[in-house]
Order: sequence, then C-alpha cells, then structure tokens
Amino acid sequence: MDLLKYQTDFLDYLQTQKFENEPKNLYAPIEYILQLGGKRIRPILTLIAADIFSGNYQKAIPAAMAVETFHNFTLVHDDIMDEAPLRRGKETVHKKWNINTGILSGDAMLILAYQYFENYKPKVFQQLAKLFSKTALEVCDGQQLDVDFETRNDVTIDEYIKMITLKTSVLVAAALKMGAIVAEADEEQANHLYDFGLNLGIAFQLQDDYLDTFGDPETFGKQVGGDIIENKKTYLYLKSLEIADNNDIEKLKFFYNQKLEDNSIKIVEVSRIFEQNDIPKFTQDLIEDYTNKSFESLASLKISEEAKKGLRDFGNNLMNRKV
Ligand code: IPE
Ligand code: IPE
Ligand code: MG
Ligand code: MG
Ligand code: MG
Repeated sequence: MDLLKYQTDFLDYLQTQKFENEPKNLYAPIEYILQLGGKRIRPILTLIAADIFSGNYQKAIPAAMAVETFHNFTLVHDDIMDEAPLRRGKETVHKKWNINTGILSGDAMLILAYQYFENYKPKVFQQLAKLFSKTALEVCDGQQLDVDFETRNDVTIDEYIKMITLKTSVLVAAALKMGAIVAEADEEQANHLYDFGLNLGIAFQLQDDYLDTFGDPETFGKQVGGDIIENKKTYLYLKSLEIADNNDIEKLKFFYNQKLEDNSIKIVEVSRIFEQNDIPKFTQDLIEDYTNKSFESLASLKISEEAKKGLRDFGNNLMNRKV
C-alpha cells in the first residue's frame, strides 16, 4: 500500500481540473480552497479501498475527487458557522472574500462534487449518489447539532459522540465505501470497511478537538482555542464537567455561557482547567479506544494481511498527527 502513490496521482488529477471559470467571484474561492492543501485523508481512503478490492485504484480517482470537493465545501460553510479566521494556515474563504461568497461558492462545490459521479456507469453511479446523499444529509444533521450544543448546558458525552459521528465520521466511512463501490466489491465487505471508517472518524474528530486547544499555533493551521471561543461542547469540556471539582465546574460554566470580544483570558483559564484535570490524557485514551475499536472491523474483512496492516498503519498515523 503506497500512500504516496495515491496522493501523487490524486493531486495530479486535481491539477487537471479547471475551476477558474467566470464569474471569478464564484470560482476563485473554489480554486483557492482546493489548492490550499490539507491532508487529503478522505480521497486517499477512497483510493486505498478501491485498490484493496480491485487492484485498480485509478478508476476511483473521480470518486475521490468528489469526496475531497464535498469535504472542502463543508469546510467553507463550517468556517462561516464557526467564525473561523484561519484554515490551513491561510485566511478562510469568507474572510478573504465575504460571507455571501462563501455560501455560494460552497453551494457550487457541492454540485461539482456530484458531477464527478458522471464518470461512472449507471449502476455504480446510482450506488455512489445514494451513499453520498445519505452521508451529506447526515453531515448537515451533525453540523446543526454542533451549533445547537453551543447554547445548551445539558449535553452528554453520548450526545457528543453521536454528533461527531454525524458531522465527521460518516464522511470518512463513506470515503472508504465509495472506493469499494467503484471496485464493485461485495456489499457486506464494503460495510465492514464502512464500520472501520466510522470508528476511525470518531477518533479523528476527538483528535481534532484535542488539537484545537493543545495544538501548536505555528503548525496547526487553524486558530488555536477556536472551540473555546465558540463554546463548543467538546469531549474536553464535557469530561471536565464530569471529573473536575465544583470550583472548576463553576468557572467552566461561567466562561461557556458567554461570548466575548477579547478571549485571551478565557482561553488561558479554560486550557488550564483542562490540563489540571488531566483532560489531554483522557482524550488521548479515548482516541486510542476508538482507533482500536476500528481495528476490530478488520477481522471480518476478507482481504490480505498486508492490506489490513496498511489500514492499521493509516489509523495509527492519524492518532499521532499534529495537524
Ligand atoms: C477538518 O478536516 C474537519 C474535520 C472533520 C475535523 P481535516 O483535518 O481532514 O482537514 P484538511 O482537509 O486536512 O485540511
Ligand atoms: C468540522 O468540525 C466538521 C465539518 C466540517 C463537517 P470542526 O468545526 O471541528 O472542523 P474544523 O476544526 O473547523 O476543521
Ligand atoms: Mg470549524
Ligand atoms: Mg464546526
Ligand atoms: Mg475542529
């Protein structure tokens, strides 16, 4: 399993895509966000899955492009919703242009994503579109819950896991299953791979939430402390409420019940409470639990040991990422 090969071929294909159309204000932001980089985790997963089941990963490149285009669309709209100034170390689309541009360019990207399915024969097209539509709606469900939770004070850890499953994991899982669909793999096998992705996606979002507070501002590429500013009910926050003393709990609740102009004290104080309550350790442990849970799905897969090792290595690398 040569990840570099998948990435190189995917990026080569991306370069051949012409997004610089008229009107400029609609298409320039699309080109901007898609060229801004990113880890390209989802398209690589699509190619891995296609390779495992058919040995022909190139056939899955348009499907991988659909996933990455959709992912970048969700980021453009997510950054508006989260009022985020930075993405991949650069200005977010709505900061560089404006909110209306972000909304419409995002909408266009969603449509562009679907167009990539036109590269496939009707049976594959239908299966891809069906999975994609289901997944995209679930992402919307998750994003709405994420926003609803900002102003709720009774969110449970179970609800949080459900929310991140919807906003993040289902797309990681679908990225894998789409590769299996292009490879015309057995449905049951494709579903085992989907389940692998679902748990890996939960670990991935937990890590994202951890890095949002404890990542290195020099390399993280997003505004560190953004989730604290926005009162996001992450695992870090919810676990603190479960184990901290009353004094810390009162402080956390106080900070998370307001939106401030200047967030420097809030970020320092909340981070300190997280640290004093060993939240980094609890979070890392839960990331490991979900990563290991994802590995359990590999047992049911009728694929080579080498392919399973490739998927495990991929999961372990995600767990140790810094961006
Ligand atoms: C960011 O996804 C949004 C989440 C679901 C956490 P990535 O961390 O994959 O972002 P890029 O594409 O690598 O920038
Ligand atoms: C993002 O969650 C999920 C989607 C984009 C659908 P976050 O809001 O945590 O993602 P980042 O941290 O902005 O990348
Ligand atoms: Mg965000
Ligand atoms: Mg968000
Ligand atoms: Mg985040």
